[in-house]
Amino acid sequence: MAAWHSRNADLTQPHPALTEYYGDPREREAFVRQLFDSSAADYDRINGIMSLGSGAWYRRRVLRDHGLAPRHRVLDIAVGTGLLAREAAGIVQPEGLVVGLDPSFGMLAQARASLALPLVQGRAEALPFQDASFDMVTMGYALRHMADFGSVFAEFRRVLKPGGKLLVLEIARAENRFVQAAAMLWLGRIIPALCGLMMPRRQGRLLMQYYWDTIEECVPAATIEAELRASGFLDVGSTATLGVFREYAGVTPPA
Ligand SMILES: C[S@@+](CC[C@H](N)C(=O)[O-])C[C@H]1O[C@@H](n2cnc3c(N)ncnc32)[C@H](O)[C@@H]1O
Repeated sequence: MAAWHSRNADLTQPHPALTEYYGDPREREAFVRQLFDSSAADYDRINGIMSLGSGAWYRRRVLRDHGLAPRHRVLDIAVGTGLLAREAAGIVQPEGLVVGLDPSFGMLAQARASLALPLVQGRAEALPFQDASFDMVTMGYALRHMADFGSVFAEFRRVLKPGGKLLVLEIARAENRFVQAAAMLWLGRIIPALCGLMMPRRQGRLLMQYYWDTIEECVPAATIEAELRASGFLDVGSTATLGVFREYAGVTPPA
C-alpha cells in the first residue's frame, strides 16, 4: 500500500485520485473518512511531531496576518480535532463566533472533548448554512481530499458575507528542489516511520504515508488560484512559508 510516490494517480481528475489506496476514485470519500475516523485519537500527537510544536503559533499568525479580528464570525471547514478553530476562537471570542464542520465523527469527537464551539457534521461540498453568514471561511489541510474544487469554492463564496475573506492552508510542492528534498525526507520518510514505531497497531503510518502522497500529487498553486478566480473570488493570491506551507486567500465581491 505505502509508496513514496503514487504510480497510479489519475491525472484526469481535478485533484488526482490516488487509486492505489482506494481502487476507484468514487471510493475516495469513504477511504478518507475512515482514515480520519481511525486515526483521530493520534492526530494531535502526529501534528505536534510533524510541526515540531510550531503548529499553533503558525496557525495563529496566518489567521491574524489575513485579517481575522475580534467579533468576526468564522466557519472552519475540515475542523478536524480543532487545531485551527482553537486559534481562531482565541482571536474572535468572546464577542465573535467560530463554527467547525467536518465529515469525520472520529475527528469531531476529539474536537468536542477540548473545544466548547458549535461543531457540525458535514462536507465542504454541501454546507448546511445560510447564504452570507460568515466574515471568514477557513480551511486547513483538507483541499487535497476534495475532488471538485469548483463546487467547494462556490459553497465557500455562498456562505461568506459580501467582502468576506477566504483562507485556505495547504501543503504544496516547494519550488526550490532542495527544500522539496528536505520536505520529502521529513514528511515522506521520517514522519511515517516514526508514526509506524509509535503507533504500530493504529492508522498513523497510513495517514502520514497518504498525507505525503497527496502532497506529491497535489494541484499546483496556479491551478488553485485560477479555480478561486473562476468561482468569483477577488484579490486571489497565495504565499508560502518555508517553501511548502502555502496560504491561499481571496475576498468575495462587495455588496
Ligand atoms: C488533516 S485534517 C485537518 C484538520 C485541521 N483543519 C487542522 O488544521 O489540523 C483534514 C480534515 O479534513 C476533513 N475532510 C476530508 N474531506 C472533507 C470534506 N469533503 N469536507 C470537509 N472536511 C473534509 C477530514 O475529516 C479531516 O478532519
